[in-house]
Amino acid sequence: MTPRRTTLGVALAIAVGCATDGGESTVGDGGSDGSTASGVDTGGAQGDVDTDGSSGAPDRDTEATGPGSSSSGSPVEPPPPEPWVWDLPPGFPEPWVPADNPMSAAKVELGRHLFYDTRLSVDGTYSCATCHRQELAFTDGLPRAEGVTGQLHPRGSMSLVNVAYAASLAWADPGLLDLETHALGPMFGDSPVELGLVDGADALGRIADDPTYDALFEAAFPEDADPRTLEHLVMAIASFERTIISGRAPFDRWFFDGDESAVSDAAKRGWELFNFPGQCTYCHFSFDFTDSTYFAELPERTTPFHNTGLYNVDGQGGYPAGNEGLFAHTGVASDMGRFKSPTLRNIALTAPYMHDGSVATLDDVLDLYGAGGRAETPYLDFRMKTFELDEGQRADFMAFFESLTDDAVLTDPALADPW
Ligand code: HEC
Ligand code: HEC
Repeated sequence: MTPRRTTLGVALAIAVGCATDGGESTVGDGGSDGSTASGVDTGGAQGDVDTDGSSGAPDRDTEATGPGSSSSGSPVEPPPPEPWVWDLPPGFPEPWVPADNPMSAAKVELGRHLFYDTRLSVDGTYSCATCHRQELAFTDGLPRAEGVTGQLHPRGSMSLVNVAYAASLAWADPGLLDLETHALGPMFGDSPVELGLVDGADALGRIADDPTYDALFEAAFPEDADPRTLEHLVMAIASFERTIISGRAPFDRWFFDGDESAVSDAAKRGWELFNFPGQCTYCHFSFDFTDSTYFAELPERTTPFHNTGLYNVDGQGGYPAGNEGLFAHTGVASDMGRFKSPTLRNIALTAPYMHDGSVATLDDVLDLYGAGGRAETPYLDFRMKTFELDEGQRADFMAFFESLTDDAVLTDPALADPW
């Protein structure tokens, strides 16, 4: 079955080579990020709650392995947590998990409740899931997201499938590397407001009366006498997000499992076109169809970003204010308009497209790439190529896109609203 695999392998090699392209940042290996979860108390907005993570994690690790002896005076010692076992699709490596937030089924379950809890918003109407809906592959169908107060986000909601593998988070933020830290943004951010919470005490206060959470927090953090902390809250949300894995689409049954009947001949031809002449695999390759992945066995994390020629508002390659991509973080002219390549999994369900929702349909996406971008810009990524498709080839391309729709992730009850 190797011709197909080889294609992917070659694409992998090409794109790994791309990592030497000067503008990409490399941020050391995952080990150095282990402290990030305990860094959540530096957000400034939540200084009044106990977010000190330095005591919890090591104790949890050592005590969880044996029956231990209770120092909390609790009469019944909770059973040691079952070791976490990933149930990964073929071709998927083991995700990177911060050392101080190991996976556990209890944390995932707590995280799922929090992810879907509308009490965690200023007026009780919004949750993470309002903008990240399971049936839309955890996007929201809008060009740009709308926060709880009606404020328009400059960018669109991103799919959360396979976010455990994201090399960096958000459309273009080279410094946002772990889901624990990221979760603070939508909760407490005010430009724009997403959930509109004030601080950790505010967040925890909104769910303080619900006894459901007593059991959930205790099971998730059994070593802690007072487990309801903001740090634990974001650790649990991150653990849940890491279980949103999509890799059982018809494409996978064909490509990885060798089931020739899993996809149509049109989809198989579309995959060829995706490789050539599309050359999409320069930036959308490997198991998650993106060059922005990081996982446990990689020696270092690279965070690539690309300008795909969407704008030139000032004749000098400028992007609209507020959506300047990597440039907003670095101030380097050639970083203008550079964004992360998103996953293409479930892409038929996540219209409209691009960071600002400015491309309505997949047909329009093909027009854009066929023309080598829609605006001429000096910063266009050199991997952008032009190509032409006849009507039949266009239909083949669409069939390939549709073969990436993974019903399992869209309907998995373990990822659904528990309330
Ligand atoms: C108002 C809508 C909205 C809400 C509510 C919201 N998000 Fe998002 N989410 C977005 C938008 C918009 C982006 C892209 C942000 C950017 O690039 O600036 C995003 C990006 C993300 C990403 C990055 C994905 C990637 O591939 O890089 C994660 C993870 C995420 N959100 C998780 C959450 C969690 C967890 C919550 C709840 C605590 C949440 N979101 C609440 C709109 C929302
Ligand atoms: C130079 C790298 C590069 C190449 C080559 C490339 N892409 Fe992309 N792709 C990106 C980036 C970066 C984005 C996000 C751009 C933005 O939002 O400004 C993107 C976005 C997309 C999106 C929208 C995803 C979403 O969730 O909104 C689709 C669909 C897509 N690409 C398909 C393709 C196809 C099909 C090809 C080949 C014809 C291709 N790409 C070639 C880098 C690339």
